Amino acid sequence: MTGASGLLGSHVARRAAGRFDTLGVFQSFQPPDFPGRLESLDLADAAAVRSRLDDFRPELIIHCAALADADRAQREPDLARRLNVDATATLAQAARRLGAKLLFVSTDLVFDGRKGAPYVEDDPPCPLSLYGQTKLEAEQAVRAGCDAWLIARTSLIVGPSPRGNRGLDEKLGLALREGRAVKLFVDEFRCPITAGDLAAAMLELADSPHTGVFHLVGSERLSRYEIGMRLARRFGWSTETIEAKSTRDVPMNPPRPADLVLDNAKARQALKTPLRGLTDALASLSGNSWGGCPPACSSPPASA
Ligand SMILES: NC(=O)c1ccc[n+]([C@@H]2O[C@H](COP(=O)([O-])OP(=O)(O)OC[C@H]3O[C@@H](n4cnc5c(N)ncnc54)[C@H](OP(=O)(O)O)[C@@H]3O)[C@@H](O)[C@H]2O)c1
Repeated sequence: MTGASGLLGSHVARRAAGRFDTLGVFQSFQPPDFPGRLESLDLADAAAVRSRLDDFRPELIIHCAALADADRAQREPDLARRLNVDATATLAQAARRLGAKLLFVSTDLVFDGRKGAPYVEDDPPCPLSLYGQTKLEAEQAVRAGCDAWLIARTSLIVGPSPRGNRGLDEKLGLALREGRAVKLFVDEFRCPITAGDLAAAMLELADSPHTGVFHLVGSERLSRYEIGMRLARRFGWSTETIEAKSTRDVPMNPPRPADLVLDNAKARQALKTPLRGLTDALASLSGNSWGGCPPACSSPPASA
């Protein structure tokens, strides 16, 4: 699996431990206590990626690595293309050559948020940002490049990350604890999901006969402001520096998609793993920790 040092990858690795013979790869940050084999591998180095995969011969590739910071992707388009598109294409071609299944993690930002109703898997994408565009091109590379593929489109991810600063809750908590002003939009809607729920759903999906596109998002539509307030209240952070704003008051280039609600009915029908909304996920926390892994899939393939 790629992105082993990232927010999502670390949760996938934890849930895969003991059931998959896992090789996790990262670029620069070696995560402590990784439950499996771990190596540094630059995914932008196509020859090195091909060679390592030919050697390891995975049955399943879970691709969590990305330039996942949308603002940075906008500023550094070449890097975003190299990592988000070209590296994904390399993995897709390797998966076909090795007869492996590829699970690629995509984003709700492939849509423009103007539909006015929840997006289903077959709706035509129309990204507004460079990040969304690169993830869409990566989806196309997956469809064209390999035979057995899954695309899991997700939304804002909350939960602890190895660096302590990648989860949506971690970013907000850092800002509020430092007393920084935080502007949150009341008219930008998303369906956040916990990293734990998402990782469990991905592993269950990967271990099933299903292929194709799935929307793995939480089952609750919330504005950025509502998300922030729920997190702050649950973790006991002061909300004094949170400011409710409208996207109309803050000119942005590219504009933020206003209403990115993805319909997760197809995934809920296919999977046992619950795709909880943020309110339910926060209500089930013990203390101030995300803790507890939900049960995941059985009978995994030998190597991933
Ligand atoms: N976070 C969200 O809210 C969100 C929302 C929707 C979709 N997604 C998607 O979900 C996936 C996981 O996101 P995340 O938030 O977990 O990402 P993240 O925490 O930023 O982690 C990114 C991972 O990619 C690795 N990486 C970066 N450049 C690399 C390279 N050249 N070679 C090898 N590895 C490299 C990083 O390794 P190092 O740490 O070693 O640099 C890290 O493990 C991504 O596909 C993202 O697009 C995320």
